[in-house]
Amino acid sequence: MNVQSDVNIGLVGHVDHGKTTLTKALSGVWTDTHSEETKRGISIRLGYADIEFRKCPKCGEPECYTTADVCEICGSETELIRKVSFVDAPGHETLMATMLSGAAIMDGAVLVIAANEHCPQPQTKEHLMALDVIGVKDVIVVQNKIDIVSKERAIESYNEIKEFVKGTCAEDALIIPVSAQQGANMDILIEAMLENIEPPERKLDGSALMHVARSFDINKPGSGADKIKGGVIGGTLVQGKLRLGDTIEIRPGINNNNRRIYLTSEIIGLEANGKQVEEIGPGGLVGIATKLDPSLTKSDSLSGSVAGEEGTLPDVLDSFTMESHLLDRVVGTKEERDVAPIKLKEPLMINCGTTTTIGVVTSTKKGVVDVTLKLPVCASPGDRVALSRRVGARWRLIGYGIIK
Ligand code: GTP
Repeated sequence: MNVQSDVNIGLVGHVDHGKTTLTKALSGVWTDTHSEETKRGISIRLGYADIEFRKCPKCGEPECYTTADVCEICGSETELIRKVSFVDAPGHETLMATMLSGAAIMDGAVLVIAANEHCPQPQTKEHLMALDVIGVKDVIVVQNKIDIVSKERAIESYNEIKEFVKGTCAEDALIIPVSAQQGANMDILIEAMLENIEPPERKLDGSALMHVARSFDINKPGSGADKIKGGVIGGTLVQGKLRLGDTIEIRPGINNNNRRIYLTSEIIGLEANGKQVEEIGPGGLVGIATKLDPSLTKSDSLSGSVAGEEGTLPDVLDSFTMESHLLDRVVGTKEERDVAPIKLKEPLMINCGTTTTIGVVTSTKKGVVDVTLKLPVCASPGDRVALSRRVGARWRLIGYGIIK
């Protein structure tokens, strides 16, 4: 079986509703690993964890579903069914750009809603809308924190959720009550994810295209010059394959005295699902070790880039024309208002793949909008971008555009 995951599942939802705890309950991996995140108790950057969905050959359904190698009920060795990468998106309203970059690499999503709070909370709504806008169709709703509510409140919360998802991509989604903290109903949730979130078809031929979601400097402070390791990028391949020894190009690259320089380097290490491999393809999140100067990759500085074989990547655009599709209402705030048409000269936050940039509107006519970008994007005609507008002090999702 392939080492790589078959499917990327996003965990989305309002701040503190339990996304990180759920990832931990399923995988044993705590995705809040940055010190600032641990201090503030919220997820800032995208976290991810690779998990195996397994089945006990002896136990009945749903108890047979687990992520453990050995069945906790009968002690039998479990069988691997599917490898999954979880992308844990931050729920805080100021981190919507990170959530939108995460949504670009999700094949399906679990919307986590805490049963002890009224539904919908602002980011519950905004995240579901983002899934709709970006086109993530397979969604499951998790009703979390069931351990701290009464039976009456659990039913009331279920009815609130049912009402809220009407008319959205989650209208027919399963709603699974769980306690992530107590690990309750994880078997039922795994069964639901297996049945309802389909691995997408992967395009293996054609040139490789990777959305970079993270980048790192893996050297410890004070490492000697002879021990310094090159920069590492992490993300997901949407098509094609990359092999050890290949030369990769990263775009848009860096700006040197107003000259754009694409970064190129040899691939000296490939990691998928915690294992060193010789080749990677689409599916799951992968890490690529390069010979790049680690100062270029430190602190996610290359997140939002695309990587692939030299000379094959889409063009780098400093401006583009798009067909805009706006939502009816601005969501994500306590009081909702109508979405006004896009105006000349207004700045929009644009999320394209895993890139976040600002586009200033230079022309708008019958839904066709021209923007000049503050940071360039690497994209092709037909690509979908998420559009947000500044409302008060925050960026709010207002719709999407299709690049012409
Ligand atoms: P952000 O990533 O910052 O948006 O938050 P989050 O959605 O990942 O929430 P997190 O998992 O950090 O949980 C927030 C708080 O809720 C923590 O104190 C958890 O211990 C608690 N919590 C999560 N799941 C449960 C649950 O099932 N029951 C109870 N009682 N508490 C829970």
